Amino acid sequence: MVHPINGKTLLYGVVGNPVKHSLSPVFQNVGFSKLGINAVYLPFEVPKENFKETIKGLLFLENLKGFNITVPFKERILEFADWVSEDVEQIGSANTLKKTENGKIELYNTDWVGFLKALKELVNPEGKKVLVLGAGGTAKAVIYALKKSRAEVYIWNRTPEKGRKLAETFGVNFVENLNEVRHFDIIVNTTSVGLREDDPWLFDYSLIEPHQVVYDVIYKETPLVVEARKRGAKAENGLKMLLYQGIESFKIWTGKNPPVDEMWEALKRAFYGRI
Ligand code: ATR
Repeated sequence: MVHPINGKTLLYGVVGNPVKHSLSPVFQNVGFSKLGINAVYLPFEVPKENFKETIKGLLFLENLKGFNITVPFKERILEFADWVSEDVEQIGSANTLKKTENGKIELYNTDWVGFLKALKELVNPEGKKVLVLGAGGTAKAVIYALKKSRAEVYIWNRTPEKGRKLAETFGVNFVENLNEVRHFDIIVNTTSVGLREDDPWLFDYSLIEPHQVVYDVIYKETPLVVEARKRGAKAENGLKMLLYQGIESFKIWTGKNPPVDEMWEALKRAFYGRI
């Protein structure tokens, strides 16, 4: 059912810097081709110093109908919006842009849904004590999702002032240190720690207990995930979050339910094939 590329092919993609490592094109294109939609999804590497001009130009393209936004542009994209969703307003960043039939720019945040769907495959966070590591952009989407699910949220951050401020904004708790991680039912890493081989540990991972659930938003088998599993805890990396945020974006753009299983298979193949 793959639609051939022709003069009517619609354009979607992911705007970021860097984007060469992005796995979104891998599974989004499977969605389009399985549904026979005449569209392609491409990486758009946007220079940081020419962000405004590049996005402005991109939006003029008639056949460009939407894109994902990734690091470091999720906040800067807001200035292009004619309309933002309630989620974007609350979280303060957007990862999905849609151009409507009459050319209006709508912004959505599907990161929080992606996270929640992925986490719920391991545990329902409702009423659980959840420790969120980090206070950056991803942390905001994660905290928003956890609050919506009525979890009891605690934030820790390397720079405490930033963590305290975020905790206040969202009306959640703040923890000073990571000596007592055993008190939490769920631990979510939203920091970049674990991305590089030589990264230090955020805390002593040997303290993780079998009753705990660990979710690392990094899509890599980080030491946190590996050590947690070794200790009998349920632990997952961020690959499913990536899939599910993309699934929600796909629905926003096309109004159709994409073939989730086939997209997941393609994503897994690309991911495990390269590590
Ligand atoms: P993102 O949008 O991906 O969340 P970000 O907004 O730059 O990225 O946030 C990065 C997070 O990782 C921050 O919470 C940062 O902590 P600081 O606020 O102290 O900078 C955290 N982080 C990065 N490197 C870290 C390290 N080596 N140890 C602990 N936390 C780290």
